Amino acid sequence: MPAQNSAIPKIGLGTYGLTGAEGLAALSSAIDLGYRHLDTAQTYGTEENVGETIKASGIDRANFFVTTKVTASNLGRLAESVDDSLKAMRLDYADLVLIHWPAPHDDPPVSAYIGELARVQDHGKARLIGVSNFTRRHVDEAIAEIGEGRLATNQVERHVFLQNRVLATHCRDWGIAVTAYMPLAGGRLDGNPDIEAIARKYGATQSQVALAYLLALGSIVIPKSAAPERQRTNLAAGEIALDEADMNRLAGLDRGERHIDPKWGPDWD
Ligand SMILES: NC(=O)c1ccc[n+]([C@@H]2O[C@H](COP(=O)([O-])OP(=O)(O)OC[C@H]3O[C@@H](n4cnc5c(N)ncnc54)[C@H](OP(=O)(O)O)[C@@H]3O)[C@@H](O)[C@H]2O)c1
Repeated sequence: MPAQNSAIPKIGLGTYGLTGAEGLAALSSAIDLGYRHLDTAQTYGTEENVGETIKASGIDRANFFVTTKVTASNLGRLAESVDDSLKAMRLDYADLVLIHWPAPHDDPPVSAYIGELARVQDHGKARLIGVSNFTRRHVDEAIAEIGEGRLATNQVERHVFLQNRVLATHCRDWGIAVTAYMPLAGGRLDGNPDIEAIARKYGATQSQVALAYLLALGSIVIPKSAAPERQRTNLAAGEIALDEADMNRLAGLDRGERHIDPKWGPDWD
């Protein structure tokens, strides 16, 4: 099976909320600190900032890995909306284009739009393609339509309190990488005695422990921070190797705590 996911950098910067001048400053500091993987979406209002910061950095575009996501209301004009995104980002191609959510109530079904995403890739507008918030059933429907080996990733909520193991195993079996969104549980890690103790042991921050755990499970992580010092320590999480006992202790923290759960969202695995 082709290793579609091998090119996705393991740690990226989530850009949700990084709008306006403050967002630009945050993106610029992240790039200075070494972030090259930037995660945006048509609905975040950050595509322009992402494009502007890349241009202003003077760093060759080829060094960046830029993800955007097609919003549900654009599924009927998918290719055109990707062109709009590329224009907003001032890029000729995206590194990864995702379907942000399966259509509410599966109307239309995955089979009606996933082929169009594959054509976007065929036309060179996306180096890789993938999905987000897809359940096992949605993943299977996509593969039935466009074949195995085309989807690089499924980006889903995943953190120590929502480990999403059943879905992650299913994706792994299909050779699809899991990208963990909200990997810091949206900044709600504080106060957990296990995470605190493990952080002390490694001389690390609690966020680093949470990220190192997901990385050890094989996930890609896209923490968001507007603060340079947090951006720096988050990016350094890849240097922390947790031992087996701590991996097991963190595995025990799963409590199915989902934060992103819109009414129109899918029935989760
Ligand atoms: N596909 C989807 O449907 C979907 C849904 C949600 C999110 N996402 C993506 O995933 C990214 C990350 O998710 P998220 O932004 O919701 O949550 P997150 O990355 O888990 O947490 C972000 C929060 O944690 C804080 N934080 C960051 N680093 C920290 C540190 N080292 N110590 C303490 N607090 C820290 C941030 O505050 P400061 O900024 O003040 O540091 C912010 O409040 C998003 O930006 C977006 O790109 C995708």
